This record gives sequence, structure tokens and C-alpha cells, in this order.
Amino acid sequence: MSTNALPFGGFPEGPAGFGLPDGLPDENFLRELANQFFSAPLVSQELVPPAPQGGAALSVPGSVAGSGISPSAVNQGNSVDLADPQTSLPDPHFAGTGHVPASVAGSGVSPSYASPTPRFTSDAAYYFITEKNHLINPRPEWPAHAALPAAPYDVNLVRRDFPILREYVNGRPLVWLDNAATTQKPQSVIDRISHFYQHENSNVHRAAHELAGRSTDAYEGARGKVRQFLNAASPNEIVFVRGATEAINLVAKSWGWQFLQPGDEIIVSHLEHHANIVPWQQLAAVKGLRLKVIPVDDDGQILLDAYSGLLSNKTRLVSFTQVSNALGTVTPAEKMVAMAHAVGAKVLVDGAQAVSHMPVDVRALDCDWYVFSGHKVFGPTGIGVLYGKEDLLNEMDPWQGGGNMIRDVTFEHTTYHQAPLRFEAGTGNIADAVGLGAAIDYVSGIGMHLINQYEHYLLQYATRLLKDIPGLRLIGTAPDKAGVLSFVLEGYRTEDVGAALNQSGIAVRSGHHCAQPILRRFGLESTVRPSLALYNTCSDIDALVSVLRRLRTAQPKL
Ligand code: ALA
Repeated sequence: MSTNALPFGGFPEGPAGFGLPDGLPDENFLRELANQFFSAPLVSQELVPPAPQGGAALSVPGSVAGSGISPSAVNQGNSVDLADPQTSLPDPHFAGTGHVPASVAGSGVSPSYASPTPRFTSDAAYYFITEKNHLINPRPEWPAHAALPAAPYDVNLVRRDFPILREYVNGRPLVWLDNAATTQKPQSVIDRISHFYQHENSNVHRAAHELAGRSTDAYEGARGKVRQFLNAASPNEIVFVRGATEAINLVAKSWGWQFLQPGDEIIVSHLEHHANIVPWQQLAAVKGLRLKVIPVDDDGQILLDAYSGLLSNKTRLVSFTQVSNALGTVTPAEKMVAMAHAVGAKVLVDGAQAVSHMPVDVRALDCDWYVFSGHKVFGPTGIGVLYGKEDLLNEMDPWQGGGNMIRDVTFEHTTYHQAPLRFEAGTGNIADAVGLGAAIDYVSGIGMHLINQYEHYLLQYATRLLKDIPGLRLIGTAPDKAGVLSFVLEGYRTEDVGAALNQSGIAVRSGHHCAQPILRRFGLESTVRPSLALYNTCSDIDALVSVLRRLRTAQPKL
């Protein structure tokens, strides 16, 4: 994940920087960031003021209360305003003094000064110290004081929302690291679907009765939530489909059939999932189109110069992923869209692996279509979204005919609704669309920026530990990654690694991940792929690493 994508530009920057794959900070430091910085469910909701020692009484700055920032140090005799970007504070992680970046102040993110062991100990400073879930009061004689805000991101609380995470597999607590394949569902999504069937179930848009009204409200309400989630301009731009695969096929079968001519060119990237290759290949074969491929470098990053060289006035479409499902690479989507538009091409962005990891803004991206699957973002399977710019959707012919999408039918002639209904022939997956709305409420309630930041540290923690395992080769080492850690382990077939992990209750995918071209780019047919989500913890990563280390010390199978 790019720290640039974060609301406050990433924090904190250690002297070593956060670049991947080199220069990763110490794993203990990363663990602290991921586990404590963001997960500091303080048992005591009390602020401990410093001991007044002969100087002016110390005060907790007003800017701290309610900001989500734990004041880490207040100099004796002074109150320190953490909202002031110039404020110089002793930094417990690095030598010398640090300061609270302006962007952090008020962001709702605690700086990492909370540390299990005070590294600056003097009478002139005091700390809020969290150790896992405990507030340690270094000076018990100090009276309890103002209320501390709750931790801004508490992974332990998040985990409680997912009942399946309490499951045992092979006698061990389930460690779900197969999130790129599908994500688990929070209780709120499960309950919402159940509520729909208990209290609202009806077909939509069709009848005068009460339940039709309820189900239509719920269904269209979900569409509105998706609109907001993607920052689309109108709910008319949101088409419900079965998933990202169906959305891409819809564009190929509708727009592609209608507007593309022999000799036209379609560009995809080497990173694509089969779902963003095969529909274009099928179309190209029938219509005489040319399919071109943007290469990637050895880290799995898009080669922008090569991409630029592929673009021409023959390019009618560029279709690429925002996050690679096999490597985790985050592509420079906004730039790639602009480059395609500069030659007059349309752009489809596959957001299947992006939506659970980062905020998405289709208007900022300016893509023509954006697709994702509900089940990858904590919603149900069998429901997904095609976003399209409204005018473009209305220029496109329907790809399936039937009920719901028509305005008028005679045996001679049929007229169609405008988008989105023109693409929603037949009774759709109403309950699961409503469930997807609940999933969007769930992640929006936490905040995609916080999820992004938490996962950023978790990914770095995991990368740091995996890199240290002898014989383990990480596949996909782009500096800007999200959610995915693909690797091969010397001496083992990937399926054997997957099976060994499963024996310990750890779920990962091993195989080609429906992305054979990109694995072959790295000389492989298969990798082991742990993939992260908002409920994973450093302990999950530790469990993974411990099995892999055990495999390394055992007799290899190959
Ligand atoms: N596309 C899903 C994956 O990457 C199934 O595993």
C-alpha cells in the first residue's frame, strides 16, 4: 500500500524509511505499529497526568482530548500541544527528537509513542504506555484524569464481528489468510440478509404491496450505498451483477460487440486475472481485434514506458487491475487511465482486489467502468457491481433481454429502460445486494483509510518476517502493494505448503490464482498465497511463519 495514498502521508517515517523490499524497520517496531498503535483497547479509559513538580500545573492540551492521539510526552512545566506540527517531542522509537506531523494531528490516528517499555524515562516526561490491552501507569500516585478516546482502529474488536473467526480447524483456531479468494462476513451482513428474508422478501420494482416497497427500498438503498462507496456521481451508474467476472463480460458483450471494429486494439496488463483476459480474447477472436499486453518489471510493477509505447489511436480500450490478485501490486491506476484517455481509449478498472484494502474514488480515477465482487469486500457471494459513467451506460445495448429491463414490448419492437435497469434483466440477487449494502456500511463505519493504514503495517510486518525465512522466495516485491504475499518455498511443492498450513488451521490459497500469465512471467506455475484483510493480526502472521520455519527445518519433500 502506498503511504502516499494515506490521509496523512504515512506515519511515522523512521530513519530507515518504509520502502519495500529493502529498508524495512525492525519487526518488533512493525509489530508495535500494527498491534498497539492501532489496537490499543485501553482497559482504563483514563489519562494519567504528569506529577506536578514545583512548576506550573500541567494540563492536557485540549487538542489532544478527542483527537484520538495519545499524548506521549509532556515536558515538565510545559503543556505540549500535539496539534502543533512544530511541536518537538522525544520520540521513543528513534534517537533524538521527533515531532508529530501536522497530518497526524487530528487525524484520529494515535502516534506510535505508546510503547510497552518507556524508552525515554526521566522526570521531565511522561508517557501513555499500552502493553497489548493494558494501560500501564508509570506513576500510580498520579490521579486519574481526563477521558481518553477509544483506539481509532482496534483489530480485536473488529475480529469479534466475524463469527467464523472463532472456528477451529484441525484443532487450531482458524487463521484466515485466503482473503484474496474470498473474505469472511461480519455478523451485521449475516443478520441483514436474514432480516431481509424474515421481513422484506419480495420481488422489486413490480408490485403495489407493502413488501415490494420494503424490498425495493432495501435494494435501491444498497445501490445508493455502493454509489457513495465508489464516489460515483449517481446511483444510475451502479449496475448489480453477479461479480467482477460478469461485469467485465457485460462490457465485452455489450460495448465491445457494439463499438469495436476489426483492427481495433485492446490493451490489458500482464498482471490480469483470467477474468480480465479471456472475455477480451473471445471478443478479439470474433471481431478481428488485437490484444496487447503491458509488461511488468521483476518486482511486478507496470512498466509505464512500455505501456505508453503500446498506446496509439488504434487503442479503443485499456482494461487493467487496480491490485494484482496474484502479486498484490497496486497499479498506478489514475495515471494509466489518463494515458489511455489521451489517445481516446476507454478504460475499465478491475477493482476486485482493491475495494477491501483502500478507498476507491471512481471520479478521481476517471475510469469509464469499474468492477468489483461483493464477496471480496465482506459481502455475500453472487453479487457484484459494474460502475459505468451514466452517458456511456446509456449508449450501450443491453446484453441480456427479459423482464425488469424493458420499457415497452410488442412483437415488433421493444424499448429499454435507461441504466442501470437496462442491464438488470430478470430477477436479480436482491437479498445479497442488500447484504452488500450492509458490508459497505461495515467497512465505511470503520473507515477505509484506517483499514488501509492498518493493513499497510501488517503487510510490512509479514513481508519482513517472510523475507527472513531461508529458501523462501517472495513473488511480487513492488513497493506499492496491498493485501497479498505470494511465495514459493525451496524444496516444497506449493500444494504441500498449503496442506501443512491447513494442518495448523491456516487457510491460504496455493495454485495459479486464475492468473497464469503473471506467474509464468516469474517462471512459475503456482505459488502459495497468504492474503490479508482488516481482521488479520500479527499473531496470524506469526502462526504462518512458525509453520513455514518448521517446514524449512524438516526434511524437504522434493
Ligand atoms: N479471484 C480469486 C482469487 O484470486 C478467486 O483467488
